Amino acid sequence: METQNQELETLKQQLKEQEKLASLGMLSAGIAHEIQNPLNFVINFSKMSDKLLKDLTEIIGDYEDKIDEGDREDLDDIVSDLKENMNKIVEHGERAISIIRGILLVSRGKEGEFIPSDICRIVKEYVWLSYHAMRANYKNFNISIHEDYQEGIPMIMVIPQDFSRAVLNVMNNACYSVWKKSQDAGADYLPAIEVSVKSDGQELKVVMKDNGLGMSDEVKQHIYENFYTTKPAGQGTGLGMSITHDIIVNRHHGRIDIDSVEGEYASFTFTIPVKK
Ligand SMILES: Nc1ncnc2c1ncn2[C@@H]1O[C@H](COP(=O)(O)OP(=O)(O)O)[C@@H](O)[C@H]1O
Ligand SMILES: [Mg+2]
Repeated sequence: METQNQELETLKQQLKEQEKLASLGMLSAGIAHEIQNPLNFVINFSKMSDKLLKDLTEIIGDYEDKIDEGDREDLDDIVSDLKENMNKIVEHGERAISIIRGILLVSRGKEGEFIPSDICRIVKEYVWLSYHAMRANYKNFNISIHEDYQEGIPMIMVIPQDFSRAVLNVMNNACYSVWKKSQDAGADYLPAIEVSVKSDGQELKVVMKDNGLGMSDEVKQHIYENFYTTKPAGQGTGLGMSITHDIIVNRHHGRIDIDSVEGEYASFTFTIPVKK
């Protein structure tokens, strides 16, 4: 009996680790880092090509009187289109780089380390990560997300790896819930999730509210239990909320408030004391 219990405990621990890995697997710092290099090549080569275009224009300028008017205009058009394309490549490449830097930033801290973090940025990043992951995995995933980030919130001490995982877990549930509801609901159901981040300097509040299936009292009672899930096999492990509870309550000394009406909505609020 004793050893069986121990084995079960070990198994639970292993599963928890797996869930953590799965939720972050596709954006491991390693991958982000690997992408950064080729992206830098893309950006640098388009900047170089832009310079080459300038040289080319000068050379063409030297032969101006030898080229007929029509050709000259065509050449100008082509050169200016090419320039525009180069700028677009640089612009979008740099945007991609900045997204990757965000991911690297989040995954920077050591295991369990509190570091000053831009909470709105982390929340935004993971809200959209969840959205895109769901879109990739569920058919007809069409939902709207409304975001409200208070401006000028100073950096707040959190464990970014854990905090982002908590946001991801709740968002994944919210996305699933609105998606599930939309499969049976009529065309007038508009699946939506509202996200907000606020701070008064004492406390940080992150609210994620979805207008999906909502929860019965029964579900609310068991939601933080390991392996408690109402999802069909393969769609849920029942570990997300227990991990989230551990992260917010035990590690960040905060609390999670749940407000939900079955069939109507579910809202999760993380309240975390701001460490000075
Ligand atoms: N936003 C939500 N709307 C409705 N039910 C939810 C929501 N979030 C969590 N739940 C309920 O809590 C259960 C446990 O959630 P979780 O621990 O993340 O496990 P899983 O998502 O793998 O089922 C879910 O199966 C679901 O019944
Ligand atoms: Mg979950």
